[in-house]
Amino acid sequence: MKIGRNEPCWCGSGKKYKACHMAFDDKIEVICNKNKKITRPTPDMIKTPEQLDGIRRAGEINSKILDAVAEHVKEGVSTGELDRIVAEKTKELGGIPAPLNYEGFPKSVCTSINDVVCHGIPDDNRFLEDGDIVNIDCTTIYEGYYGDASRMFMIGDVDPLWVKLVEVTKECLDEAVKIAQPWTTLGDFGYLINKRASDNGFSVVREIGGHGCGVDFHEDPWVPHIGKPDSGCLIVPGMSFTIEPMINVGKPNVYCDSDDGWTIYTDDGSPSAQWEYHLIITENGNEIVSC
Ligand code: MF3
Ligand code: CO
Ligand code: CO
Repeated sequence: MKIGRNEPCWCGSGKKYKACHMAFDDKIEVICNKNKKITRPTPDMIKTPEQLDGIRRAGEINSKILDAVAEHVKEGVSTGELDRIVAEKTKELGGIPAPLNYEGFPKSVCTSINDVVCHGIPDDNRFLEDGDIVNIDCTTIYEGYYGDASRMFMIGDVDPLWVKLVEVTKECLDEAVKIAQPWTTLGDFGYLINKRASDNGFSVVREIGGHGCGVDFHEDPWVPHIGKPDSGCLIVPGMSFTIEPMINVGKPNVYCDSDDGWTIYTDDGSPSAQWEYHLIITENGNEIVSC
């Protein structure tokens, strides 16, 4: 459907299309017509300035909650206790923990230890032990907007290979963030994440990815952590999404715990690490809104 030059823009600004997103849409058309492997972002992926401000505020609160829980991530603390800390801090800051009751998830945060890839459920009987690696994944709703990020923590004396896994996973994320620029593609950074992981002897989880985030918890686009350069969704200013690579020491295959319906494990029992940042794409680059 083509919008007339003098009709109102699809973005809701109230401006005429020609004075608003017309040049932007033309640029997308030129790129996607030239290369059929590049897909067009849909209008819902492009946030308004007002939405972007809301997402920034939610992201900032979410990072503060991660900072608060980080102080308690030590040997001997239960993941159930970490969940209570997240719930309390979120409330104190005026937010809502997005995981709680999300599609039936029972807790306020995900705590994923060792061979748990993601979506680990906090447990009063699971105490962090010397040698564990744990991902803490917080998502916060603040004034209706979402911020989502996760960090890894190493408890005490960790196996050097596992330390390397945690470090390489962070490098994969940092490299992706550096090149997640407007007018590049999701495939451009997916390729680099997979390359860096495999160059280090590790593998990238394929079934689970990052996601558009901000107006809702999980929005389009789906963000794979593998890919080919110059393919996949085009990245444009106004997008808001996460990059959250899950990297395994062993095989990439994973399965979901059939009892709790949430916990994702590596098939081969090898450890897995994950870091997640939430980004906004700007005219000239990106902004990390939660980390
Ligand atoms: N925070 C996770 C993500 O990065 C999603 C967790 S869903 C939950 O997408 F229900 F397990 F919380
Ligand atoms: Co998350
Ligand atoms: Co996420």
